[in-house]
Amino acid sequence: MRIELSSVSVTYDEGMPSPTRALSAVDLTLVEGECVAVVGPAGSGKTTLLEVIAGLTRPSSGRVVWSPDGSAAALRTNVGLVHQFPEAQFFEETVFEDVAFGPKRQGLSPVEVHERVSAALARVGLPPEEFGERAPLSLSAGEKRRGAIAAILALGRPFLLLDEPTAGLDPATRGRIAALIANEVEAGRGVAVVTHDLALAAGLASRTLVMSEGSILADRETTSVFCDDALLGRIGLEPPPRYALVAELRREDPEMAAEIGRLLGAPLAEPRA
Ligand SMILES: Nc1ncnc2c1ncn2[C@@H]1O[C@H](COP(=O)(O)OP(=O)(O)OP(=O)(O)O)[C@@H](O)[C@H]1O
Ligand SMILES: [Mg+2]
Repeated sequence: MRIELSSVSVTYDEGMPSPTRALSAVDLTLVEGECVAVVGPAGSGKTTLLEVIAGLTRPSSGRVVWSPDGSAAALRTNVGLVHQFPEAQFFEETVFEDVAFGPKRQGLSPVEVHERVSAALARVGLPPEEFGERAPLSLSAGEKRRGAIAAILALGRPFLLLDEPTAGLDPATRGRIAALIANEVEAGRGVAVVTHDLALAAGLASRTLVMSEGSILADRETTSVFCDDALLGRIGLEPPPRYALVAELRREDPEMAAEIGRLLGAPLAEPRA
């Protein structure tokens, strides 16, 4: 299963005095089992891109389809979107009830709901017997974030999109979130992660999209993107330290950089433009 965007543009407030072009002619394919990182400066269209993929924002032009059936409607039932600061949306009295909200709406039986919720809470490291009856607002910041992610996992959808999932969290919680995302990829989901945390992207994603002013500037292997200091410089991002080291080495000793690239099985020596 895959999601295909062809020439997707989104303009907010079209026809109003000051419209905003958020996406311009974006072509993109997402496949199950692959983790894609989406990086780029503030306002470059990352959140809008996720909302289009999730079927929550309609393109002003172009097409986004769920393959193989070719419909756009199927996106809403096959894609789970974890918004930025998702814990702001808790509204039930217990963690269990909050995570159960989506599966209940899907019409599952009480037994199935219970299984879904228990499994989702366990997957994010909040054992249901310990956390299920807690009030969501009594959780720590990291537990809240994981609980909110569990609510989306409980929907059981094959594609998972996360908007800045580690924003505002301490390093230990960041590590837990990274591990739980890696587990979802391992389980065969298609994942797209918007992040300003390039080290997180480097650890999770085999492929990275670089966005700028509503367009995809690059869509390449993560290693190739993060070793391309000219590209990152254009959008004002610093590569994670080990990639900065390789970029430096490429300037100093291209042959050794190429050799390291070969050892890592990645195109470190000559990033494609
Ligand atoms: N609902 C909206 N109405 C009008 N303009 C919007 C709306 N949502 C986003 N925009 C504009 O669209 C552009 C892209 O915004 P978007 O939120 O997709 O960027 P982003 O890359 O996610 O930014 P950030 O890193 O700050 O979250 C921005 O210029 C923004 O002001
Ligand atoms: Mg955003």
